Amino acid sequence: MPDSQKKNSNLKTEMEAESLTSRIEGEMADESHRPTVPAAMEYDYTNFYFGAGDDPFALLQPFDTWWSQVKPAGYYLFELPLHSQPGTRVDVEDTKTGDILRGLVNFASYNYLGLSYRPEVKKAIQEAAEVFGGGASGSPILSGTTDLHAQFGKEVAAFKGQEDSLIFPTGYSANVGTISGLMRSGDLIVADQFAHASVVDGMILSKAKSRFFRHNQADDLDRKLKGFDGKKLVIVEGVYSMDGDVPPLAEIIEVCKKHGARLMIDEAHSAFLFGPTGKGVAEDQGVEDEIDIHLGTFSKSLGGQGGYIVGPHRLINYLRGFSRSRFFSCAISPVVVAGLRKALELAQKEPELRTKLWENVAYMQKLLGDAEVPIGDSTSHVIPIMVRDDARIFMIGEELLREGVFINPVRYPAVGKHKSRFRMSISAAHSPEELEEGAEIIIRVLRKYGICP
Ligand SMILES: Cc1ncc(COP(=O)(O)O)c(C=O)c1O
Repeated sequence: MPDSQKKNSNLKTEMEAESLTSRIEGEMADESHRPTVPAAMEYDYTNFYFGAGDDPFALLQPFDTWWSQVKPAGYYLFELPLHSQPGTRVDVEDTKTGDILRGLVNFASYNYLGLSYRPEVKKAIQEAAEVFGGGASGSPILSGTTDLHAQFGKEVAAFKGQEDSLIFPTGYSANVGTISGLMRSGDLIVADQFAHASVVDGMILSKAKSRFFRHNQADDLDRKLKGFDGKKLVIVEGVYSMDGDVPPLAEIIEVCKKHGARLMIDEAHSAFLFGPTGKGVAEDQGVEDEIDIHLGTFSKSLGGQGGYIVGPHRLINYLRGFSRSRFFSCAISPVVVAGLRKALELAQKEPELRTKLWENVAYMQKLLGDAEVPIGDSTSHVIPIMVRDDARIFMIGEELLREGVFINPVRYPAVGKHKSRFRMSISAAHSPEELEEGAEIIIRVLRKYGICP
């Protein structure tokens, strides 16, 4: 671009930035049209995504202006520091007041089996720290693989009943590395419309043609696959992370077979929980052998960190060479792997943990159901509490926090506009009293805001 034009567009950018800043400031000053919620809340991250001109910093000032208004009005509820382990009760720092709120009933952590803080897990972590120190200090294909990693990889494959496994630093990188490692420009990937961001990012990185089918609707998947000649991959989840529902796998498999498409399932929220031996939703629905790639994370039910895929040797061998998010990244810390090995052992040795989890889920669904709290189509331990009000979700969230419940608000763009909700995670470790106390607070606060009768 010629310099003269650059100058003009810089000027334009600065003017635009200033005008966006003053518009936000002006609208924030005039709150007459909406007495309870600052007008800045009408904006969200997407308003600060694109900006004209050449300076990538042009959006920083308007973003800062917006952020300084919306943070105290609710956005501070994200990233509240915990001062305790992620147990069923937590101590949470209220960054708005500076107070440490102690003993909150915790519905925000993924510790679905309560494994991350079990004494056996802590002991395994301590012992590994003595031997290995803190980190892996290398990529898994270079120096980062310890004998703990090698053993754990075998244990994960054996648990899932598959030939081999590949361990990634996170569940996020497992999706990104697997999808982009396998699919190429000119191929087709079709994912459920509610697929996780890591699935979407893997699709983008692969440069394949991307389509989305209507949530859990196999007939729409059929339409989206129709007429495409070439390599096809379909991606679904075991339990959808924002809605807590599960896919109709038999129907989806039938459509994949009809079109010669491979099928991948992300069991981030369902592995170690569903099915007769806890392998996941595919086992629960009796279709394990009909799925080509099984993916999951260790950050949820096992309470640690990392991601995996399991499948045939050939697939794993190929992806070991092509999953860039794995081999260009440091291996998981051996300390974490030691904890994961113990957590996996406990998850298998104690099926009663899964029984307890499903009892807890049934009990919470009854407590919320009796009070007519809207929980969508959830049939799992992930229970969305539908508020459907993008502004008031934070007011309600603040009140829940102060009343004694730690639960995360979810709003656009993580879910669709006007689909705001609290995402409740139930754990096997919750006692009946904790479930009752938490439900009582939630129902009382929701009633005040007219979310339930
Ligand atoms: C469906 C799904 N896949 C992948 C991930 C990423 O997993 P991790 O947090 O282990 O990176 C998540 C995380 O929430 C998820 O919900």
